[in-house]
Amino acid sequence: MIVPKVLFVCLGNICRSPTAEAVFTTRAKQAGLDVHVESAGTSGWHIGEPPDPRSIAAGEARGYSFQGQASRKVIRADFGNFDYILAMDDKNVEALKETSPENYWQRIQLFLDYAPSNTVREVPDPYYGSGDGFTRVLDLIEQASDGLIAVLSK
Ligand code: 4NP
Repeated sequence: MIVPKVLFVCLGNICRSPTAEAVFTTRAKQAGLDVHVESAGTSGWHIGEPPDPRSIAAGEARGYSFQGQASRKVIRADFGNFDYILAMDDKNVEALKETSPENYWQRIQLFLDYAPSNTVREVPDPYYGSGDGFTRVLDLIEQASDGLIAVLSK
């Protein structure tokens, strides 16, 4: 049994991709799917920091755990190591492709490609916005998580 490896990526690895890690880990487990899940940032601005307290508060309110998470930057080895490298927005995709050898570009996708019924393509950065940006992030990530789980369960 091969366990798929999924890496969620955003800019700071303190808001969106940690939320994706928490949500997808929980929902995959509930679906009986065995996966390896991590998250990382294209910047190194918050290395070693736990997720943003606003992300934790919004996520925990829906029952997700952020236990043990700490921000790290994407490294070159990630491209060979992860089967799915799922970015929150187009800028993340661009930054990833700048770092990745071209033979791994097919692994890099927008996470919301797995929420096709939604016309939104990117998970908006909630960092500088108002509080409800964090629940919006959760809504989008829950949809895409279920889409990805459906694909991986086939
Ligand atoms: P994230 O959000 O990419 O979803 O983790 C951000 C976190 C920090 C910053 C920007 C976005 N920042 O500018 O420090």
